[in-house]
Amino acid sequence: MLTQDGKLIVVAGASRSGKTAWVKKQIKGHHRVMAWDPEAQWCELPGFVTVTTKAELVAICQKKGPLKVAFVAGGNLADAFDCWAACVQYAGRYCGPLVAIAEELADVTTPAKAPGHWGILLRRGLKRGITIYAISQRWAEADKTAMGNASAFVIFRQATGPDAAYMARYTRVPVEEINALPALHFVIYDCGEQKSAKSQLRF
Ligand SMILES: Nc1ncnc2c1ncn2[C@@H]1O[C@H](COP(=O)(O)OP(=O)(O)OP(=O)(O)O)[C@@H](O)[C@H]1O
Ligand SMILES: [Mg+2]
Repeated sequence: MLTQDGKLIVVAGASRSGKTAWVKKQIKGHHRVMAWDPEAQWCELPGFVTVTTKAELVAICQKKGPLKVAFVAGGNLADAFDCWAACVQYAGRYCGPLVAIAEELADVTTPAKAPGHWGILLRRGLKRGITIYAISQRWAEADKTAMGNASAFVIFRQATGPDAAYMARYTRVPVEEINALPALHFVIYDCGEQKSAKSQLRF
């Protein structure tokens, strides 16, 4: 069956290494974006609507056409994240292709299998035309389903040697190359091509 393919891009790096700024550049020109926004950063960007409750999110995700939503959830984060992932899956499947941005996954996942609807989104979302940017400072603390299903990795400066080793292990990028990255520099690894390239974030 012909599917409209999305991508899963795993973005890794220490605090202030450049993750959010890089993803911000990638979504330029996209008109359908849903962000899990625990630090209330995406909601500040032009064109984004801020949503703070699950009920609002469930209503807005059913909208067809342009949609830029930042979900800044209160209360039980894991529960809100599960709802966000379900809404992304619904919006991608029934309302049109979209980009999903999941900030700091170590808040809401563990190194075990991805929980609930996030797991379903990772396994089935790509064939529904959903492109996912999965972000964490430390992937050793976030879910291994995202790591295992990635189409590409974007590796910024890692905080510690073990963090660099963890990313190297999943990507075949030499650990020395990861250890040498200054802030705002990154290695992008394409899992299909099994090729990596170095680059730098510029403003
Ligand atoms: N438009 C911009 N112009 C200049 N510098 C910027 C711009 N946007 C971000 N920066 C700087 O780039 C650096 C990386 O910021 P970014 O928010 O991407 O970090 P991050 O990896 O997402 O960190 P965290 O894990 O804490 O969210 C910071 O020093 C930030 O101040
Ligand atoms: Mg960030």
